Amino acid sequence: MEGLVTIILAAGLGKRMKSKHPKVVHKVAGKPMIEWVVDAAKELGSREIIVVVGHRAEEVKEVLGEKVRYAYQEMQLGTGHAVMVAEDLLPEEGIVLILTGDTPLITASTLNNLVNFHIKENNTVTILSSVVEDPTGYGRILRDKSGNVIKIVEDKDATELEKSIHEINSAMYVMDIVMLREALKNITNDNAQGEYYLTDAVGIIRQMGGKIGAYVTPYEEIMGVNSRIQLFEAEKIMRRRINYKHMKNGVTIIDPDVTYIDAEVEIGADTIILPGCVIEGKTKIGSDCEIGPNCRIVDSEIGNGCNVMYSVILSSKVGNNVKMGPFAHIRPDNVIYDNVKIGDFVEIKKSIVKEGSKIPHLTYVGDAEIGKNVNMGCGSITVNYDGKQKHKIIIGDNVFVGCNVNLVAPVKIGDNAYIAAGSTITEDVPEGALAIGRNRQVNKEGWVQERIKKGRL
Ligand code: UD1
Ligand code: CA
Repeated sequence: MEGLVTIILAAGLGKRMKSKHPKVVHKVAGKPMIEWVVDAAKELGSREIIVVVGHRAEEVKEVLGEKVRYAYQEMQLGTGHAVMVAEDLLPEEGIVLILTGDTPLITASTLNNLVNFHIKENNTVTILSSVVEDPTGYGRILRDKSGNVIKIVEDKDATELEKSIHEINSAMYVMDIVMLREALKNITNDNAQGEYYLTDAVGIIRQMGGKIGAYVTPYEEIMGVNSRIQLFEAEKIMRRRINYKHMKNGVTIIDPDVTYIDAEVEIGADTIILPGCVIEGKTKIGSDCEIGPNCRIVDSEIGNGCNVMYSVILSSKVGNNVKMGPFAHIRPDNVIYDNVKIGDFVEIKKSIVKEGSKIPHLTYVGDAEIGKNVNMGCGSITVNYDGKQKHKIIIGDNVFVGCNVNLVAPVKIGDNAYIAAGSTITEDVPEGALAIGRNRQVNKEGWVQERIKKGRL
């Protein structure tokens, strides 16, 4: 679609969302609604995308950044008025694709069909329409007896007879720019909502002698999101699309209805995703993994052959063949190398864990560097915080840390060292040493008998 210019209307408040944020920045499958529409227009090959912003414009601009150009609509006087404020940015002639920011399910492929239909039919205006069971709330497409489109009537302005029409306006159109300019001059706000309707341009262009057509498409892609309930409905459809895409690529998803994968997530073939997983952001998961049940993975990279269950992984990198969980909490900024085992009730933060190390249960590792083949005993912890500052703990290769050990930072444990169970280590341990940092055990023989004799037990 070389040379195509697209306008996306996104200045409205979205009252029915009952939100302090503009409607179009609400997310569907982890991506703001407006971005879905912009990406579809980009994929289609739009040369230029103009987004009309108004209500809390800065929030919309924050989402889209430099990806698009902006037109500013100070007062939201209607969809026709919104196009008027973008008029100056349009080329002299040619066609313009007009979209709205609240239809995240639209795909580049449908838009491509719409534009091609417009060109093939030699239309002046082509409306993307749909025939639906319940048309309530939508503008209706009025056709004459021979089926030619005459105009669009808004729900609030429709007669009872017009309301019985099931073909609806998606608010997506291709229009001839010269004719659109002429029509915009003649739009009034003399209607039920006192707004300048873009839909009126359609009837006006017809009266000017333009050829109007409608390209009918299934409802799924044109569903508008106006309320939180519709947001959920769109989310449901988008999640299913994403899950099916992964399944087509060779990923097993046991139950897509309870698996939530964001748009940009990548997953390798033969990985199995068990129910209850929420996989977000720019996460990449390798092949032959088993993830879940019930994991939350955000902006993380996981290698091949990993097994992760009932765990949370945030902004971290995990190597190959790592076994994790149940109930591990991998907080941000960790690098976990290959063949590491992280067991139940383990929390790791801002740390490096090298190849083959095992942290099987009840351990906290923070601000630490753990070498290769280290064994962290049950209940061993890094004491990285002195109440004011964080300090580092460095553990060499092949170190054996016994159960219930406190490693008080800053401290360094040399390669091949052993730390006796129950130790509190406050000084560096040299390579190959055994460190014991606890009181010796004392057995007081006959103590119980003694007490009984004194009548104190
Ligand atoms: C619009 C159409 C209706 C169609 C429906 C499909 C009009 C008059 N009606 O109605 O025929 O069936 O979409 O979903 O066009 N906007 C602005 N500035 C404004 C007003 C709206 O930028 O002054 C933007 C909104 O942010 C939104 C889009 O235009 O993204 C549509 O506006 P909305 O108020 O949701 O229109 P609908 O009532 O849904
Ligand atoms: Ca709408």
